[in-house]
Amino acid sequence: MPSILSIASAALVCLSAATASPHKQPAQNQVDPFFYKGFDLSSLHILELGNVTYKDTARRNATRPAEDILGDGGMNTVRLRIWVNPEPGQYDLAYTLSQAQRFAKKGYRIYLDFHFSDTWADPNKQFTPAAWTTSSVSALGSDLRDYVKSTLIAFKKGGVDLSLVSLGNEIRHGMLWPTGYVDVDTAPTSARIANFTNLASLWSNARKGVDDAVKAGVKKPSIMIHIDDGWNKTLQLDWFGALTGTGKVKAEDWDVFGFSFYPFYGTAATLDNLKDTLNAVATKYQKPVHVVETDWPAICDGATAPELSDTSVPISPAGQTEWVQDIVSVVKGVTGGWGKGVNYWEPTWLNNTGLGSACQDAILFSADWSGWPNKIIGYSRSSVNMFAGK
Ligand SMILES: *[C@@H]1O[C@H](CO)[C@@H](O)[C@H](O)[C@H]1NC(C)=O
Ligand SMILES: *[C@@H]1O[C@H](CO)[C@@H](O)[C@H](O)[C@H]1NC(C)=O
Ligand SMILES: *[C@@H]1O[C@H](CO)[C@@H](O)[C@H](O)[C@H]1NC(C)=O
Ligand SMILES: *[C@@H]1O[C@H](CO)[C@@H](O)[C@H](O)[C@H]1NC(C)=O
Ligand SMILES: *[C@@H]1O[C@H](CO)[C@@H](O)[C@H](O)[C@H]1NC(C)=O
Repeated sequence: MPSILSIASAALVCLSAATASPHKQPAQNQVDPFFYKGFDLSSLHILELGNVTYKDTARRNATRPAEDILGDGGMNTVRLRIWVNPEPGQYDLAYTLSQAQRFAKKGYRIYLDFHFSDTWADPNKQFTPAAWTTSSVSALGSDLRDYVKSTLIAFKKGGVDLSLVSLGNEIRHGMLWPTGYVDVDTAPTSARIANFTNLASLWSNARKGVDDAVKAGVKKPSIMIHIDDGWNKTLQLDWFGALTGTGKVKAEDWDVFGFSFYPFYGTAATLDNLKDTLNAVATKYQKPVHVVETDWPAICDGATAPELSDTSVPISPAGQTEWVQDIVSVVKGVTGGWGKGVNYWEPTWLNNTGLGSACQDAILFSADWSGWPNKIIGYSRSSVNMFAGK
């Protein structure tokens, strides 16, 4: 659970956010000492509906809600994804709002991750919701704006004040394809900026949806732009340069940067490169930076183990903790105090343990499937405490 102190500081931030005009970036590095230590728990309740329970190995295997185990380990924030019109039982408004209510009641900050899609959105796919109008950029932008507004109002009505909201998930290649597709490797710079025009127009509509919701009484959350490959300085500087170069999105339109930082996708995904990138971005934009997705394997067998960017960190629960604590140190060391948070991706996902990596298991619970389908158990690993004392 978050400490009394962090709840008090949360109240302070809300006060200062309420007095700032919607597009003015409050000097958060001065007024907000809060450091987000989060887990993405989007799939948790779907698993629970599938007869999964979690046991706390530090408490003689007591059965406990996973968020209580992770909260004891230092978690203060829960990240949740939301899809537009998914298959029933997935990450729609009703599901995500009820999860947000559950975690907010326990005192955790809520970080909402808009995918702007009916299914997964990432750099390899950004499917436009089937129900949205694609006849023009402005028609699509208008649907997007309405959706952001109505979603934020639904959270407010549901009693949840969102702390962080990401407008798009890993939008290196834009969002709402094909209209909003971008390629940051377009050259020269003038062509790259031209390439970002549609995306900038769409994103600014999403941003206006936030303003609309604020006018309707929603407490303004911090607005994030989330890009993957947080270790790639060229990518990040060129990308944000192109977005603002269009003139359609201004730097004051977003409040915080979110970066994914996975160790699996190439030898350049090092802590040194992360540090260099976060420092460059924070120096240029004078805004908070977060690492919003990462993971590390507890198990990764085989001679042809995938390329892990840092072979000095063990493949074990202790290694998971070491990796994340190293990231926390890098983020906390960012110039100007702009480093404001770290999130680990989906630690409770017992039937998707690889989390998209080439390793078998990067989650924080060890699964026992012997009682399937009536009783599946996740035993906490020592790495559930990765944020303790941080
Ligand atoms: C995991 O199990 C849940 C609950 O049975 C199911 O809905 C979901 O599709 C499964 N996910 C994967 C990745 O197998
Ligand atoms: C907890 O459960 C695990 C797995 O069944 C078992 O190995 C361990 O001995 C149990 N611990 C306690 C304290 O009962
Ligand atoms: C941006 O560049 C990509 C790759 O060349 C292209 O497919 C896309 O249509 C371009 N978008 C715009 C708006 O120019
Ligand atoms: C970093 O990003 C830039 C811009 O997209 C790209 O050209 C470059 O190949 C990336 N670097 C690596 C090592 O992948
Ligand atoms: C959960 O377990 C109950 C029995 O305890 C069983 O009837 C039900 O089918 C199981 N649910 C799933 C999704 O397997």
